[in-house]
Amino acid sequence: MSRKGRGAAPETPAGAANAAWGGRFAGGPAEIMQRINVSIDFDKRLYAQDIAGSLAHCAMLVRQNILTPADGQAISRGLAQIRAEIEAGRFPFRAEHEDIHLNIEARLAELIGAAAGRLHTARSRNDQVATDFRLWVRDAIDRLERQLQGLQAALIAQAERHAATIMPGFTHLQVAQPVTFGHHLLAYVEMLGRDRSRFPDCRRRLNECPLGAAALAGTSFPIDRRATAEALDFDRPAANSLDAVSDRDFALEFLAAAAIAGTHLSRFAEEVVIWTSEPFRFIRLSDAFTTGSSIMPQKRNPDAAELVRAKSGRLLGALAALLAVMKGLPLAYSKDMQEDKAPVFDAADTLELALAATAGMVGDLEPDPAAMRRVAASGYSTATDLADWLTRVLALPFRDAHRVAGALVKRAEALGLGLAELPIAEMQRIEPAITAAVFEVLTVEKSVTSRTSYGGTAPANVAAAAAEARKRFL
Ligand code: ARG
Repeated sequence: MSRKGRGAAPETPAGAANAAWGGRFAGGPAEIMQRINVSIDFDKRLYAQDIAGSLAHCAMLVRQNILTPADGQAISRGLAQIRAEIEAGRFPFRAEHEDIHLNIEARLAELIGAAAGRLHTARSRNDQVATDFRLWVRDAIDRLERQLQGLQAALIAQAERHAATIMPGFTHLQVAQPVTFGHHLLAYVEMLGRDRSRFPDCRRRLNECPLGAAALAGTSFPIDRRATAEALDFDRPAANSLDAVSDRDFALEFLAAAAIAGTHLSRFAEEVVIWTSEPFRFIRLSDAFTTGSSIMPQKRNPDAAELVRAKSGRLLGALAALLAVMKGLPLAYSKDMQEDKAPVFDAADTLELALAATAGMVGDLEPDPAAMRRVAASGYSTATDLADWLTRVLALPFRDAHRVAGALVKRAEALGLGLAELPIAEMQRIEPAITAAVFEVLTVEKSVTSRTSYGGTAPANVAAAAAEARKRFL
């Protein structure tokens, strides 16, 4: 093995020991050690939260007479300048400073000198990163909440336009009973409503502040953890210092909520793929949400929908990845936990993109009511209405009515007719008590308008449900 492989100091690009933790080290890390250790490439996304946490910590240290006001001012001014540098794209992120915390601290030392070294009093990167990450996930939840609501708004608007537009309802992807397109879209509004309650639920449990737990045991300095918690809009300080630095439940819950929301989006995306396909033609997406084929000139492919469908796989993968990282970790902090950020950042980005693309498609899609109605009327979709009529009017037990209606479907199929076209004489050969009044329930229009039970698909119900959804969700 080369000397470099063992990490001997003189040959490593990193050179000397790390300024932040190298006191007991003679040499610097091997190049490969540095590469596996650095997280700055991804955790730079925590910069705003890291600076906010440091500002709150610094102000508290001054109030508790742990830092002098002069040092506190120098630190706060330096941090504000660093934030401005990062936001202007002028900040020199450096791999040898490992992560966002040490990059900011090193830059602070360049800017204000020795006082920078006092900021880390009564703090560790363990409580620091736990705090930053909670703040970041909290912000992501708030952004997603607005986006989920935006998608609900787009769905409700289409549902209002199509409260009476008839489409086939499916079970097993077989034509089952006629429903309305508005009713179908409102089903997704309910799913998103549950997503919108899952994220804030996660936010409520997340909202405890780890800052001041220090490395794992708390600190000997007379800090005020309530003050820092309050300054950062947390509900309270986390109660146990070991738990505070080692808990990532909030990230797991966030990923679980994201994976479930992604599952909803992928189900909708799958329907869009089906509905736009030639044999269905239920909806049309404009050029804005389709792509062509480089070989088949006639193609209009629903790529956005396919990608939304696929992105849910990534969301599910992110949850599985972090569960696997966390399982079996002993208390308290372990470096494994640095691997918590990539899946969470990726999941937040992925879900934001999928929500935006889905909202775009919902606003863009144009249903073809004639095509939908044609399929809705196929497949003997009003056979249940027939059975219901036999039960209601002839007082047959529903099971008998079901059998009679089944026999009528069989007869109609043999004659190549729809139920509404089956001559009354044919019907009476199977059930003599049937009268011509039965035809009143056999059209798809009659079928949907009769579904007036609460939560049912009757157009009047759907219009009322859309108005109600507006009140509940928008
Ligand atoms: N970059 C680290 C992380 O993301 C910060 C905490 C490092 N703590 C430590 N004891 N080395 O987890």
